[in-house]
Amino acid sequence: MIGVRRQTQIYLDGVSGRRPHVPLDADRLETAAKRCMRPEAYAYVAAGAGNERTLAANRAAFDRWRIVPRMLRDVERRDSSVELFGRRLPHPFLLAPVGVLELAHPEADCAVARAARDTGTAMVFSNQASKPMEGVSRILEDSPHWFQLYWSRSDALVESLAARAERCGCEAIVITLDTTMLGWRSRDLEGAYLPFLHGKGIAQYTSDPVFTQLISEGPLEPSAQQPRPTLAALRTLIELTRAYPDGFLRTLRSGKGRAAVQRFTEIYSRPSLSWETLAFLRERTSLPIVLKGILHPDDAARAVAEGIDGVIVSNHGGRQVDGAIATLDALPAVVGAVDGRIPVLLDSGVRGGADVFKALALGARAVLIGRPYVYGLAIAGRAGVREVVENLAADFDLTMGLAGRRSVAEIDADAVWAST
Ligand SMILES: Cc1cc2nc3c(=O)[nH]c(=O)nc-3n(C[C@H](O)[C@H](O)[C@H](O)COP(=O)(O)O)c2cc1C
Repeated sequence: MIGVRRQTQIYLDGVSGRRPHVPLDADRLETAAKRCMRPEAYAYVAAGAGNERTLAANRAAFDRWRIVPRMLRDVERRDSSVELFGRRLPHPFLLAPVGVLELAHPEADCAVARAARDTGTAMVFSNQASKPMEGVSRILEDSPHWFQLYWSRSDALVESLAARAERCGCEAIVITLDTTMLGWRSRDLEGAYLPFLHGKGIAQYTSDPVFTQLISEGPLEPSAQQPRPTLAALRTLIELTRAYPDGFLRTLRSGKGRAAVQRFTEIYSRPSLSWETLAFLRERTSLPIVLKGILHPDDAARAVAEGIDGVIVSNHGGRQVDGAIATLDALPAVVGAVDGRIPVLLDSGVRGGADVFKALALGARAVLIGRPYVYGLAIAGRAGVREVVENLAADFDLTMGLAGRRSVAEIDADAVWAST
C-alpha cells in the first residue's frame, strides 16, 4: 500500500538527515517551482484567465465539501486502481495534457514520460508538446498514454495527428473543446509573452508531414507586420530557428523556423468547431474519443448521444473563461446527465488526495492533474514529477483508507457532505 510505504520511507530518510527535495504542500510546491523558473515561464504556467476568479473558484469548490470518514471497516488492504477504456490504471489520476513543458525543464515531455512509466501513471500527450509524440511514446513503451488534440483549421493535419497517435500506441484521443481561441490571460499579456511565437510548444507540428507540407506552400496571407528589427526580435529569430528540427544553419537559410511559427498561428485553432465537425474524426479512428472542457449537463448528454466515449469536466485550470463555473460545482449535473453510460473525468484545481477523493465521491471515474506535476518537473525533472505523483498516490491511498473505504468503488456519494 503506497500510502504507508511512502510515509515510512520519508520518515526513515529523515533519521539520516534527508528531507524531501520537492515540497508536499501545494502552495509550497508552487513557490519552490517559481524559484526555478524564468519569470515569463512561471507566469505562463501559473496564469488563469482575466482576474483569475475561476482559478480561485476551482479550489474553493473543493473546500465546500467535507469527507465524512467511516470507522471499523477493516481497511488493511486497499486498492486505488480504476479501469478506463479496458485498461486498469494504478491510480485514479492521470497527467493532464500540458503544452510547452520546456518552460519548466529542457527534457520536458521526455522527463514526464519517464516519471509516468516509473509510476505506471497514464500520461496525456499535449498537442502543444515540446517533444514529438514518437520519441515520447518510445520512452513509455507499454505504459498507458493518450493524445490530446486541438482541432486546427486543417482537417488533413487533424487526420495526420490522429493517425500518428494511433501508431504511437495512444489508447484514447482527447479533443479539447474549450480553446477554440486563447483565453484573455492577463499575466501573459502584461509580459507580452506567448511561447509559441518563440518556436516553443510546436513540436507536434514541425514533426508532422502534413504541417511541413503546409509550410512549404507559403503563408496563407503575407505577414501583415514584420517585427521591428530590435535585439529582442533577433533573439527570438535565433530561438525559433534553433527550435526547428532541421539544424540551425539550414533552418536559418530556409527561413522555416519563422515560417513554421507563422503557419502555426494561422491554423492552430478553429473557432467554427461544432458537433457536426466531430464526425470527421469518428470516421477516421477506432480509438475512444474523449471530450475535454465539458461543463454543462446538456453538452454531456449530447456527447453521449453523438457516440463519444468519455468526457472531462474541465475549465482548463481556469485559463480560458474567467468567471466560468468551478469544475467540482459542474460535476454532479454532468454525472447526472451521463447517467453511467460513459466515464466522466474531472480536472482543474486538484491539489491533494482529499481532492481526488471528493471528485470520485461526486461521480468522477478519475481526475487529471496539471500544474502540480509541472512544478515538480521544474524543481527536479523526472525525479520531481515522480515525487509529485507518488505523494499524490500515497495521500489518496491514506485518505481513502482513513475514510473507511478499501477501493475506489466504495467511495460513494455518502462519503462527502456539503459543508455549511
Ligand atoms: C501551462 C499549461 C499548459 C496547458 N496546455 C494544455 C494543452 O496543451 N492542452 C490541453 O488540453 N490542456 C492544456 N492545459 C490544461 C490542462 O490540461 C488541465 O486542464 C489543467 O492544467 C488542470 O488544472 P490544474 O493545473 O489546476 O490541475 C494546460 C495547462 C497549463 C497550466
